[in-house]
Amino acid sequence: MEKNFKIRPYKEEDRVHVKILWEKCNLLFPGNDPDTDIDLKMSFQPNLFFIGEISSKIIASMMVGYDGHRGWINYLGVHPSFQKSGYGTAMVHKAIEILRELNCPKINIQVRKTNLGVINFYKNLGFKEHEVISMQLKL
Ligand SMILES: CC(C)(COP(=O)(O)OP(=O)(O)OC[C@H]1O[C@@H](n2cnc3c(N)ncnc32)[C@H](O)[C@@H]1OP(=O)(O)O)[C@@H](O)C(=O)NCCC(=O)NCCS
Repeated sequence: MEKNFKIRPYKEEDRVHVKILWEKCNLLFPGNDPDTDIDLKMSFQPNLFFIGEISSKIIASMMVGYDGHRGWINYLGVHPSFQKSGYGTAMVHKAIEILRELNCPKINIQVRKTNLGVINFYKNLGFKEHEVISMQLKL
């Protein structure tokens, strides 16, 4: 890992770079408009939207949320050229630290069935599979 890797809150001028990062990380899905998702996050717990950068180059992102019951991590992505070097782990450690400070007792992660390879990444971090089916209602 580069010594000058830094995790900091998202700033509006990051938007275009974050969207490119999400595209490279395959985090863009039909039905999820990235601009809307960024706008919504900036209107709710904006201080929990994090960017990972090396010398001002954005290489990682992560949206953290706490709903008063569970913590959540979304849009976790590390630029493919920088993957498998510990940056994803560093991002999740940051989420854990922040959520602990908020007295959040548990963190939930949702993994798409098309992305099951990532399960080992979370298992390495101590996450355990939880026997639930995730459901959704569009509002
Ligand atoms: C998942 C992701 C954030 C991991 O970031 P990363 O910087 O590569 O992770 P790390 O280097 O910290 O990896 C830590 C460990 O997990 C493993 N790992 C990382 N990504 C993995 C993957 N996709 N599949 C299996 N194992 C993986 C690494 O091999 C490493 O294990 P090791 O230390 O025993 O070698 C990154 O692969 C990514 O951006 N993927 C695309 C977007 C995505 O799927 N996001 C998660 C949505 S739920």
